[in-house]
Amino acid sequence: MAFTHEKIETNNWLMIALILVVIAVGGLVEIVPLFFQRSTTAPAPGLKPYTSLQLAGRNIYVREGCYNCHSQMIRPLQAETLRYGHYSTAGEFVYDHPFQWGSKRTGPDLQRVGGRYTDEWHRIHLNNPRDLVPESNMPAYSWLNDAPLKPAEAEASMRAMRRLGVPYTDADLAGAAKAVEGHSEMDAVIAYLQVLGTAVK
Ligand code: HEC
Repeated sequence: MAFTHEKIETNNWLMIALILVVIAVGGLVEIVPLFFQRSTTAPAPGLKPYTSLQLAGRNIYVREGCYNCHSQMIRPLQAETLRYGHYSTAGEFVYDHPFQWGSKRTGPDLQRVGGRYTDEWHRIHLNNPRDLVPESNMPAYSWLNDAPLKPAEAEASMRAMRRLGVPYTDADLAGAAKAVEGHSEMDAVIAYLQVLGTAVK
């Protein structure tokens, strides 16, 4: 008997094996090129690695779980771009390890929040969001004011990023601790927020 489609349809295991092969090929064809395409692997023009202070702020953003309420990923839909600005592009995230795209939006997307408010606005807002937005349900982060950054962690943090491919120089590493000296965690989070999304005009 010739090999017919009936043979596949009447044999569970053969059917499962062939479905897996088809899905694997289809998946790889979509995923593998992304690792090699310039548009997804090259840094966006104007993108700079985070400074020591910004990187410390990013670490606090992750530690405090800001991503549980805020995405950093503007979709290419008019409703999103009218509200938040230019949609996100892959090249903006090549120095983010791991990226903070998220998908949960209890609060607004933060990808283009850099430069939208003054440092002072952020300070008051993080201290107690209700002082600026009465209906806000965002938690207050007032203790960040009193928490000094640990200079010893700054260099280690930068070194870890360099290992992951962020082009920090030896001079960047050497100056990392000094750059955060005397700053609070609040300063760092604000520095981080102010640079978000600014690589694309
Ligand atoms: C429980 C959810 C929640 C968490 C956690 C949270 N936020 Fe928010 N955030 C909100 C909501 C809701 C708003 C909108 C109301 C407001 O502005 O306070 C907001 C607004 C903001 C804004 C203003 C955005 C804009 O475009 O107006 C910034 C900046 C911000 N959050 C930063 C942070 C940072 C940094 C953290 C972590 C330290 C954080 N948020 C944690 C819910 C949250």
